[in-house]
Amino acid sequence: MLSEFLIAEMHRLERDASLPLHRQLYEALRRALLDGKLGAGERLPSTRDLAHDLGVSRNTVVAAINQLTVEGYLASRVGSGTYVNDDVPQRAPRARRQAGAVTLPAMPRLSRRGHDLVERFCASALEVQPFTPGVADFSAFPVALWQRLQNKHWRMTYPDLLDYNAAGGYGPLRRAVADYLRVFRSVQLDADQVIITTGTQQSLELCARLLADHGDTVWVEDPAYWGAVKAFMANGLQLHPVPVDDEGIAPSAADERQPPRLIYLTPSHQYPTGAVMSLARRHQLLACARAHQAWVLEDDYDSEFRFSGPPISSLEGLDVDERVLYMGTFSKVLYPGIKLGYLVVPKGLVAAFKQAHYDLNRPGQMPQQAALAEFIEMGHFSSALRRSRQSYAERRSSLLAALQPLLQAGVAHISGADQGLHLCLRLPSGVDDQALARAAGERGITVRPLSAYCLARDDLSGLVVGYGYANPKDIPRWGKVLADMVLEPPRSAAARVAAPRGGRVSGLGRPGA
Ligand SMILES: Cc1ncc(COP(=O)(O)O)c(C=O)c1O
Repeated sequence: MLSEFLIAEMHRLERDASLPLHRQLYEALRRALLDGKLGAGERLPSTRDLAHDLGVSRNTVVAAINQLTVEGYLASRVGSGTYVNDDVPQRAPRARRQAGAVTLPAMPRLSRRGHDLVERFCASALEVQPFTPGVADFSAFPVALWQRLQNKHWRMTYPDLLDYNAAGGYGPLRRAVADYLRVFRSVQLDADQVIITTGTQQSLELCARLLADHGDTVWVEDPAYWGAVKAFMANGLQLHPVPVDDEGIAPSAADERQPPRLIYLTPSHQYPTGAVMSLARRHQLLACARAHQAWVLEDDYDSEFRFSGPPISSLEGLDVDERVLYMGTFSKVLYPGIKLGYLVVPKGLVAAFKQAHYDLNRPGQMPQQAALAEFIEMGHFSSALRRSRQSYAERRSSLLAALQPLLQAGVAHISGADQGLHLCLRLPSGVDDQALARAAGERGITVRPLSAYCLARDDLSGLVVGYGYANPKDIPRWGKVLADMVLEPPRSAAARVAAPRGGRVSGLGRPGA
């Protein structure tokens, strides 16, 4: 009976969502139509009868029926009532989530690409707790000052700052970024080559879409940064993992037989091993890119935090034939939610990138960009950087001190500790780093297994340990917990630790080496 069905549906809708009555009736009638409770050509009861049966006002019924008529489900025939249209599509009733309901086989709703994107190389849902890599301490960010600057720019906002932006970003911000990169990162550029993006992820997306076609090969470091891997996968590129050693990416003759269209690199601080790309390797890589006519994507994600050793200049600074695209982010120095980063493109690509960025992303956030430009121009960025650099340096030192027993016992060594917000605790090949990471999680520490970043190789083991977020007071204590756990691994990890244990790992080596 139609009224009973409608009453039950409306009752359910009332519980699930606070919809107005006429909307509940509209939804209930629509479901009755789609589920075939009301067949094509069938006449509806009169509005008076429906209102009576359902215990609602006639206006409510009229409103629901009018809406369904406008949408083409129903048609009124003058003098004879309202009928179900002949072309209303019907569907099989949806399986309801209720006890005893028949379970339908899972329907593959995602594309193959979509499936790969959500299934492969995912950051597991790790809790943010001491040593979570990739997380900075945002508590030091000068929120009050930032608020004042934002308010100021919102007060003075001209209408064009509220529009999309087709110029590659707010001019003064692009100039401030260019000045910073020229001085501190030895990047060769004019402000016009800077494109403000929503961060490295968007910079990578733009490069993948504009510089490569579906099926083209991209060389990625192995182990690799997941964000980059995902951006390339999402754009249908063929990933070709190239192993990283102590001097950065190390392409072999076999790799050269898979000519790249793009080469993605983190040369200043390889993510996650921390290897710094040597000068010889930089020249070799640029020559290789030239030979293959490939574009090089340089992700310089954490060079602001250099703690020891000479500053590492950008790879872009060595590029003589304009094939390096350089990208950076404000995620680490300010906070990730600011969603601002920059991409420096060779002069010949500026117009195309601006155009495509506008067409694909409709960039905006101009008042925010204006506030950031002033933040940099007034010296606040440098002060924030100085303060956080010092704070991270202290955290890094106390973590290194806490991990000393591991180095003394010869069961691990550390790579990548001169820069950034994480270090890599390298374990002998064969150690079950995933079991160690799980065990650490049970003790309230989040570290990531190095092997989880590997694409094609299985010779790496280690723990990626972040100190950006860890509370400085707690680092000695948590560091000791971590060190003790690696010295006395849980049984599941220990089984695999036993054989190779006891030596310093000498470099990353190639797969199988
Ligand atoms: C290698 C690397 N690149 C880039 C980023 C930051 O990217 P985004 O600007 O998209 O936040 C991260 C963040 O952890 C990273 O590890």
